[in-house]
Amino acid sequence: MGGLVMTDPASEEVASNDLFGPTPRERVQRIWSSCWIDYPAASQALKRLEWLYDHPRVHRPPCCLIVGESNHGKTTIARKFKRMHEQTFVDGGTSSKMPVVYAQSPPMADIPGLYSNILRAVGAPTASTASALRKQDQVLNLLTRLGTRVLIIDELHTILDGKKDQKGLFLNVLRHLTNELEISLVGIGTKGVLRVFQTNQEFGNRFTPFTLPRWQVGPEYAKFLANICRHGGLQDVAFIKNKTLVRRIHTLSEGLTGETWEVMCTALERMDETGRMAIDGDTLDEIDWTVPTDRRRQT
Ligand SMILES: Nc1ncnc2c1ncn2[C@@H]1O[C@H](COP(=O)(O)OP(=O)(O)OP(=O)(O)O)[C@@H](O)[C@H]1O
Ligand SMILES: [Mg+2]
Repeated sequence: MGGLVMTDPASEEVASNDLFGPTPRERVQRIWSSCWIDYPAASQALKRLEWLYDHPRVHRPPCCLIVGESNHGKTTIARKFKRMHEQTFVDGGTSSKMPVVYAQSPPMADIPGLYSNILRAVGAPTASTASALRKQDQVLNLLTRLGTRVLIIDELHTILDGKKDQKGLFLNVLRHLTNELEISLVGIGTKGVLRVFQTNQEFGNRFTPFTLPRWQVGPEYAKFLANICRHGGLQDVAFIKNKTLVRRIHTLSEGLTGETWEVMCTALERMDETGRMAIDGDTLDEIDWTVPTDRRRQT
């Protein structure tokens, strides 16, 4: 067995204890298992979402656009926020509520596709042949019945592939949903989506952007690395005091959250294979890793 001390796989938050995973396979599963690790930019984003959640009902609800590069923790924040406001049952369990609805944007700014995705997200899939108007009615009725306060639409950059007119119609549908339901809408996407919203003054004003910056090398980044290791079962995180190592991990990941996660998990797996007790330069030398920019260039 290598240097990994396992933590409870069911635990959502980072925790450390002394349970030993009996097999290498289980240890690898533990390393890569999903979890939530808090960090300053994510906390600020959650605070912003919480503010929207608590906002009183108004005719023109405030909305937000979470913008960040690919593989940079956007969806993880949205899902964490949804879990924080998990479905609740009222009226003795007969009526369910879904205060936060999370759905994905369909490709090509397809409006009926958007309604279908929202309906699927609330557990009410509809026939794909149903008219857009019928689906729209269903969405409005259901979200009202479910007491939805915040509607999150992820992967909004997929609208960039749509034709200009279609994009305009799609944005109007988003505005219609937030106005009609008097709920805040949160769009999530990469930088391009910000341009689309900002070319239209009304949308630019309505959807306040929240940008997730790339990580800088510093104590917060080191703490994030340490927490990934603790989640993976490694208690000895002294390597974070080694600035050269931290800077190397930052270079490999290009300061992106998801890439950092993958570098660290790959390194932990390698460390376990070799029986080492800590992350070191040799471990980083031995992992098979291409930096994201080079990876993109190759495809
Ligand atoms: N706060 C976090 N805690 C733990 N792991 C995280 C966190 N944020 C991101 N990750 C890890 O990074 C991976 C990528 O994050 P995520 O899917 O949220 O990025 P994204 O910005 O939505 O990517 P895409 O642009 O591809 O949609 C996640 O699957 C998860 O493993
Ligand atoms: Mg995502």
